Amino acid sequence: MPDAPLNGGTTRVALIGFGTVGRAVAKILCESTDKSLRLTHICNRNVEKKKQPWVPANVIWTDDVQSVLGSHVDIVIELIGGLNPAEQIVRSALQAGKSVVTANKQLIARHGTDLLQLAAKQGCHLEFGASVAGGVPVLPAFRTGLCGDRLHGIAGILNGTCNYILSRIENARIPFSEALEEAQARGYAEADASEDLDGGDARAKLAILALAGLHARVAPESVRARSIRTVDAVDFDYAAELGCTLRQISRADLKGDTLFADVGPCLVPTDSPFGRVQRNLNLVVTSGQYGGDMAFLGAGAGGDPTAVAVVSDLKFVAEAIGAGAGKREVPSNVSAPAISSDFETPWYLRFFVRDRPGIVARLAQIIAAHHLNIDSLLQKPGFDKSSLPFVITLEPCRDAMLHPALEEMAILDFSIRPVLSLPILRQS
Ligand SMILES: NC(=O)c1ccc[n+]([C@@H]2O[C@H](COP(=O)([O-])OP(=O)(O)OC[C@H]3O[C@@H](n4cnc5c(N)ncnc54)[C@H](OP(=O)(O)O)[C@@H]3O)[C@@H](O)[C@H]2O)c1
Repeated sequence: MPDAPLNGGTTRVALIGFGTVGRAVAKILCESTDKSLRLTHICNRNVEKKKQPWVPANVIWTDDVQSVLGSHVDIVIELIGGLNPAEQIVRSALQAGKSVVTANKQLIARHGTDLLQLAAKQGCHLEFGASVAGGVPVLPAFRTGLCGDRLHGIAGILNGTCNYILSRIENARIPFSEALEEAQARGYAEADASEDLDGGDARAKLAILALAGLHARVAPESVRARSIRTVDAVDFDYAAELGCTLRQISRADLKGDTLFADVGPCLVPTDSPFGRVQRNLNLVVTSGQYGGDMAFLGAGAGGDPTAVAVVSDLKFVAEAIGAGAGKREVPSNVSAPAISSDFETPWYLRFFVRDRPGIVARLAQIIAAHHLNIDSLLQKPGFDKSSLPFVITLEPCRDAMLHPALEEMAILDFSIRPVLSLPILRQS
């Protein structure tokens, strides 16, 4: 049976998904002295195992989503994650006239525009501030402090797992495999960390940032993702010679009808904001036509920081409902730009070779034949000649110009590992 509506000024809230974030959200709501938000339902499969003594007795525990959607709740918080059944739950909630708050990046990256349209049609709100960078309030900033600007670029460290691994290799010069094992032991990486390491997680977040900040509709799969698995401890030694370190950077630059976008390891100056981000923190830098660059730094994951972002969205929606404020509209200027990874940057090329005379001459020949210019050549002493790492840096050129040269280099018989090519980002 649907429960009765509450009188005056109280917004009913249902929580679907009582895991890491859901539990932290419930804790904040139960401990709050603000009585304008009332948690009425907690919904989870096998709900009996989830019950907590600190939750007030008048909260209904259930595993029946339909009973929640059929009740008088005003706002549904979706925190089960994934696409199925989260997508159906969010659609059903909006169709039932409930506003929705979610932290689900996969859902918003793939269906954000459709769901915002559905919310607008239903006169409801849909907020997803925790779906990118956890507790870092960059998405809410798009609708408040930055909405007066015209943003054209967003760059970020959006994956805490990758940043933990890269900053551990940087600080301890341990192999990639050891840094990954350490991240897994500390709970910063899953047993199968492919989504993090290979860039799938970060590009979903970049797609959401592009939609909310640049009003550009981007399918996550259309953004090139490069893995951090190919990074070696020696790359930090060579990067240091260039005044740089390595970070997984997600970039989106809107130029005319094209969105230049890429996710993957890059060289960044050691003393830059990106170079200074350690452990599993996130950093997002936005670039606006009028306001220039703005930076947002903080905890990109974790139950409590993410819950703060969820509850902040909840308060925003509750106030908007209370004030009878207009629903969140899909920006009318959302574009569907062409997606390109053809950035123009300087490049870092790292080779592992079986040493013999003529290697540098052969590489220089290929580079010259493709009209590329060498900026520097770095070779540290002391390595075994059977597995010798050295680096060539190139002056700025487009990715598309470099690519054919890399294809020629890939088949050289003195190479004992694939050539690692990384953009050098000088500005951040
Ligand atoms: N954790 C973070 O640091 C973080 C940061 C930013 C965003 N997020 C996002 O926040 C959301 C929640 O993440 P989380 O870390 O809290 O996940 P989680 O710990 O796995 O919690 C998910 C909860 O949903 C329940 N659930 C899953 N499928 C269900 C279904 N079909 N019906 C009912 N209940 C179901 C799970 O129950 P069982 O216990 O039975 O599996 C679990 O209690 C995700 O979208 C995630 O991407 C998380």
